[in-house]
Amino acid sequence: MYGHQSVRQLPDAYPQFFSRAEGCRLWDADGNEYVDLMCAYGPMLLGYRHPKVEAAAAEQAGRADTLTGPSEIMVQLAERFVGVIDAAAWALFCKNGTDATSAALAIARAATGRRKVLVAEGTYHGAAPWCTPFDTGIVEEARAHLVPFEYGDLESLEEAARRAGDDLAGVIVSPFKHDAVTDQTEPDPGFARGVRALCDEREAFLILDEVRAGFRLAFGGSWTAFGVEPDLAAWGKCLANGHALSALTGNERGRKAAQRVFLTGSFWFQAIPMAAALATLDELERQPPVPHLETLGRRLRAGWAAQAEEHGLAIRQTGPVQMPLLLFDDDAKLEKGYRWAAEAVERGAYVHAWHNMFLSAAHTEADVDRVLEATRPAFAAVAEQGARG
Ligand SMILES: Cc1ncc(COP(=O)(O)O)c(C=O)c1O
Repeated sequence: MYGHQSVRQLPDAYPQFFSRAEGCRLWDADGNEYVDLMCAYGPMLLGYRHPKVEAAAAEQAGRADTLTGPSEIMVQLAERFVGVIDAAAWALFCKNGTDATSAALAIARAATGRRKVLVAEGTYHGAAPWCTPFDTGIVEEARAHLVPFEYGDLESLEEAARRAGDDLAGVIVSPFKHDAVTDQTEPDPGFARGVRALCDEREAFLILDEVRAGFRLAFGGSWTAFGVEPDLAAWGKCLANGHALSALTGNERGRKAAQRVFLTGSFWFQAIPMAAALATLDELERQPPVPHLETLGRRLRAGWAAQAEEHGLAIRQTGPVQMPLLLFDDDAKLEKGYRWAAEAVERGAYVHAWHNMFLSAAHTEADVDRVLEATRPAFAAVAEQGARG
């Protein structure tokens, strides 16, 4: 249960329950304080309990949340969001990222009348039967029309498209490869343009899964800087800075199909998260966080590189610096990674051994230095363990 967010596979040093959070700080149920480098696995981009977001949520809570129909705030948010997302002509709102990625596949299939969707091997798109990483309890028919390809490899994408033939509905892809336990890649303009060209040639839908990376790389869309616009984009996690909200945006190609597909949920109209999202978008626009995240990310990466070197340890830090991932060389069983993480957690830095971490606008240089203080002895412990064999 609870997939990658379960603490079951993590070392005992990890707390299981939390009682409070503020900015980038977390307190566990025993009252221990941590600088949090997971940001709730992504949602917390402005920091926990951001005053403006929480004020907007509280104000809306005084009026209504779940109603017999949507509040007018849904229209305001849709208009605002479509104004912010370069490729979007419409938006629909749901709860989890999985709702949005699953809706995207349904809309691409409905719009094209085709079934096959190309999916990069190992990429996480959620926990519905078609995409959950493990197949316990899943019938293989749920994945019958998915064709795998290797992320970043246009030849492999072409080959998958050949296999899909004239039944190709779309390609779903994340802005960069951010799979757990493996090195991340940097966003790649050549790959992005190649995916777009293939979809154009075959009149298939390009679905960009922005659930994890969205807003952490850029404001309007992670591939916009490359001149690549998706047909559909799935958003979630930090859209409402921790309030439960996800979204799917699309261009005109998908509008009619989106109107025809049966998509709904009892809590999808909740107005509080939508008020929180409006405030989040205002704040992201008022003070774009990416430069700050990059500055902190570079400081953290340099610090970890120096500490690893100091202790003679070979590590790899990959992907955009604002979504750090640190893996040790020769550590297939993650023994070094887990030791490092456990030692850091015990010293008040909540890091992860195999999932990318997240920086937020609420982290400061002092917080990064606090993390580095905790990780120096953690690297020393890994080195000592290695020396003992
Ligand atoms: C890239 C990506 N897509 C989809 C999802 C699913 O989102 P949710 O957990 O909100 O269903 C996640 C969650 O981690 C994700 O990282």
